[in-house]
Amino acid sequence: METVRRLGCAVALMTAGIMGCRSTQKLTDQQAEGQHLYNVGCAHCHEQNDLHLKKVPPSLHGLFNRSTLPDGEPATDAEVERVLMSGKGMMPSFAYQMSKQQMDAVVAYLHTGLRDQPEQ
Ligand code: HEC
Repeated sequence: METVRRLGCAVALMTAGIMGCRSTQKLTDQQAEGQHLYNVGCAHCHEQNDLHLKKVPPSLHGLFNRSTLPDGEPATDAEVERVLMSGKGMMPSFAYQMSKQQMDAVVAYLHTGLRDQPEQ
């Protein structure tokens, strides 16, 4: 089994590139909070596009693996938090819905690359 797991990691590494093999690590408390916020507040657009927006919300998986955000801005925590504060295009602002601490948690979760992991 160990070999299979390692093989899985190697494959994940090759496809995911930079993040390294962290798929078996548990989320930190902050990341878990971010995961919850993401599932409640972001996923319906960014995973399902349930509002059928013409500009399809970009996938946020592996967001920080690239040097730029989908729109070309630098992929930094500050830039993502700016988008959350001000909104962007059809994306609403979260300034009144989320505290700075919650935004930090979402960003921490985005840094995991959004691993498939059941909600804790
Ligand atoms: C109502 C749908 C909707 C919701 C909810 C939503 N987004 Fe978005 N998001 C979008 C759309 C549409 C874009 C593309 C905006 C554009 O470029 O015009 C976007 C873009 C982004 C981008 C890329 C910005 C860039 O500069 O390229 C990030 C990062 C992002 N969203 C994060 C989030 C996070 C985190 C949440 C949850 C807290 C969230 N979004 C919730 C619709 C949504």
